[in-house]
Amino acid sequence: MKVAVLSDLHIGPNVRGKDLFDPPGKAAIDDDFLDQFEEFVIREDAKADYLLVAGDLSESARPDELRQAGTVIARVAKALGVAEDRVSLTIGNHDKFWAPLDFDPGDTTGITQQMAYMPISRAPGLVAEAMAREAQLTSRCWSVTEQPDIVIIAYNSTWADGPKVKPHYGAIDPAHADQMRGQLSYLRDDDRFKVLLVHHHAWQYADRIQLPDFSVMDNAQALLELTADLRIDFLVHGHKHVPRFQVALTGDRHHLCVLGAGSFCKNLESVLQGEALNQFHLIEVTGRDSQSNRSTGNVKSWSFTTTAGWTRSRVDVTGIEHHNPFGCYATPEEIRDRARPEVERRLAGGSHATWREVIAQDPTLDGVPAKVVLSVLEMLQAEGTLDRFLRQDDGDCVLLGKRA
Ligand SMILES: [Fe+2]
Ligand SMILES: [Fe+2]
Repeated sequence: MKVAVLSDLHIGPNVRGKDLFDPPGKAAIDDDFLDQFEEFVIREDAKADYLLVAGDLSESARPDELRQAGTVIARVAKALGVAEDRVSLTIGNHDKFWAPLDFDPGDTTGITQQMAYMPISRAPGLVAEAMAREAQLTSRCWSVTEQPDIVIIAYNSTWADGPKVKPHYGAIDPAHADQMRGQLSYLRDDDRFKVLLVHHHAWQYADRIQLPDFSVMDNAQALLELTADLRIDFLVHGHKHVPRFQVALTGDRHHLCVLGAGSFCKNLESVLQGEALNQFHLIEVTGRDSQSNRSTGNVKSWSFTTTAGWTRSRVDVTGIEHHNPFGCYATPEEIRDRARPEVERRLAGGSHATWREVIAQDPTLDGVPAKVVLSVLEMLQAEGTLDRFLRQDDGDCVLLGKRA
């Protein structure tokens, strides 16, 4: 099963493609962004079964921006081979219309909140249809979409945000978390792939941007504990336009994969130059380990630039590797010891091999995270089992043996 992920389209005058918003703004520098995306999907065989969009669909929640966001998402879904009823969206802070909240900040009837969601719930086309299938825009603030092989929980982290709220971080209400924990407790023992889709961050990332970072939602710990209780496999979020992937420990030593999707097509702010590029991601789920009960697979990420089009992401350029395996969380030392005999066998006589050839003998190692693979190879190099190794841009490594 493959799950495509994008976020932070910001459809409006600040997108980078002239074909993404009409009329194009000054930020529109690429003539054929969507044509290039379609060519990329064919070239890289990036077809998917589902599509997740983690909010900030529009720049400022204007009805026409949200209508055109629906058109763009529908075209992306079509290119990926994803049916429109398999597209899941969540709302971002840019998709909430704040003016009614400003009009009556003391409103306790909920009417001004409903008005703030009107543009996103009523825009003609895909966005409103997807939102109508879900319940995130009601006072409940969350929805669950169940398919035969995937369960997607979407949470509206913008519920507390408004013009008078400073800073504009998102939030989770512990009462919402308790409600989800109670009503979705059956998911704990469910073998389907389980994703929590939310706009704001549950995690603070280190980065080199010298600005205050208000990306982490208030009470994020409540969300992280929920992921452990419901055995959620992936947390997918957007908001800050710098992509990230990590595996975090939550609750009672539950391993949670966290994918910060970055921005798909906004012409990125100058402060992000050298930190991030526009991104697209594909989660490939290969199964679930029967012993550890962890889902296994990999995340592939691609970046877009005007000069090179869609290319494989590089962590030193955009903060995320192209190939991020997940599912095997043994220590580097344990993996070194399991891999050593096969490395020795393949490198006998100064030969060479690839990491993928080595782990083909032990498929449970297929989910070893990219950083851990590097640690393992460094240890094998230091002890003299291999001479050196070279990383390839597809995430594999070439291992060179010692010559006699
Ligand atoms: Fe955004
Ligand atoms: Fe945002």
